[in-house]
Amino acid sequence: MNAEHVLKQQVALVTGASSGIGQATAEAMAQAGAAVVVNYHSQAEPAQALVAKIQDAGGRALAVRADVGDEDAVGRLFDEAVKAFGRVDILVANSGVQRDAPIGEMTLSQWNEVINTNLTGQFLCARAAVRQFRAQGRAPGSGRALGKIIHMSSVHQVIPWAGHANYAASKGGVDLFMRTLAQEVAAEGIRVNAIAPGAIATAINQDATEDEASRQKLLKMIPYGRVGDVKDVAHAAVWLASDAADYVVGTTLFVDGGMSLYPEFRFGG
Ligand code: BGC
Repeated sequence: MNAEHVLKQQVALVTGASSGIGQATAEAMAQAGAAVVVNYHSQAEPAQALVAKIQDAGGRALAVRADVGDEDAVGRLFDEAVKAFGRVDILVANSGVQRDAPIGEMTLSQWNEVINTNLTGQFLCARAAVRQFRAQGRAPGSGRALGKIIHMSSVHQVIPWAGHANYAASKGGVDLFMRTLAQEVAAEGIRVNAIAPGAIATAINQDATEDEASRQKLLKMIPYGRVGDVKDVAHAAVWLASDAADYVVGTTLFVDGGMSLYPEFRFGG
């Protein structure tokens, strides 16, 4: 696979692209030749900096502010994307938040905020993408599929996570939403898949990855013996979006160094 060209002539919209996995994924999509819509919610500066970096390297990019949990804002996000680049071929529904609390103390607003961004946001963006794929039809150079959707899930779509019930519920929801959508639209040539990252060093888990004692504790849960890098996920997203993955439909690709393999069982059951 020539990573320089696999997405040439395509347009990728990446939500939550001002930091972490989204930022790296947007950059990798651009390196693979796609024009990229860099969606952000509150951090305009890093989003603009990423756009400048992509443009300096000869690519095409645009930053667009939108709260993915807001129906009108998602409509405007796709309008801006189409106005700038004519179409959308790839959606990476990546935006995600954590609002952690033990169940007895979890507020309704902590619950709602996580469900709204992590689950409703993925629904709103996927629905907009499906509508856009249908409206625009196929174009030369935009790949074998009519369109591609990649949901950013988590190992916590299968691993229960005490103290994070809202987050685990949202990711469990993403899994069955993704597979249902994949089943529903595959006949039209729309490929829907997900990536389930494990512990990737980003701002969302800074406490667990930067402090040495927490880091050692975390490493015990990762058979491959290292914390993930955002590029580990970004490369998987480019592959899933490319024609090299054209027969991959309704699958979750775990990019987790083996975190979902019940690591405790290494020491006996
Ligand atoms: C969470 C991280 C966590 C990782 C592994 C991710 O989905 O956002 O905070 O480190 O799962 O537990």
